Amino acid sequence: MAAYQLVVNGVARTVEAQPDTPLLWILRDTLNLPGTKYGCGRGLCGSCTIHFNGAPLRSCMLPVAAAEGAAITTIEGLSPGGLNPLQEAWCEHDVPQCGYCQAGQIMTAAALLRDRPDPTDAEIDEALAGNLCRCGTHVRIRAAVKAAALRLQQEASA
Ligand code: FES
Ligand code: FES
Repeated sequence: MAAYQLVVNGVARTVEAQPDTPLLWILRDTLNLPGTKYGCGRGLCGSCTIHFNGAPLRSCMLPVAAAEGAAITTIEGLSPGGLNPLQEAWCEHDVPQCGYCQAGQIMTAAALLRDRPDPTDAEIDEALAGNLCRCGTHVRIRAAVKAAALRLQQEASA
């Protein structure tokens, strides 16, 4: 066991763990942030997507030892003051079914909109291609991402 200094959702945290413990388990089990989901545990499904220094990353694949000092954002920290436009659009478009994949979808979509404020359908599909959804919500995800992009543009020009 060793101690690691993490910055999670803007808060400095110290955790003790084996160095190869996946960051996902630290977030869920040690820091009690269960919004990030465990799907495959092999980097294949995207359910565990977080932001790592601003970029989407699969937390099941990152050892905690490699996370020290990085800025980590989970779905709980995406919009601490309430729902952001993406989350509002998700609600308005009734995107989730079982919901299991949705935190990862939203984290990936949030990174996309930061880099591409007005994404095309193809760009949305490409960005989210690695976030699997067994419930087939991708059409509604695309609609919600476009609605959120429009709202963010309106807010920026207001
Ligand atoms: S649980 Fe990490 S990619 Fe599936
Ligand atoms: S909403 Fe069920 S897996 Fe995506």
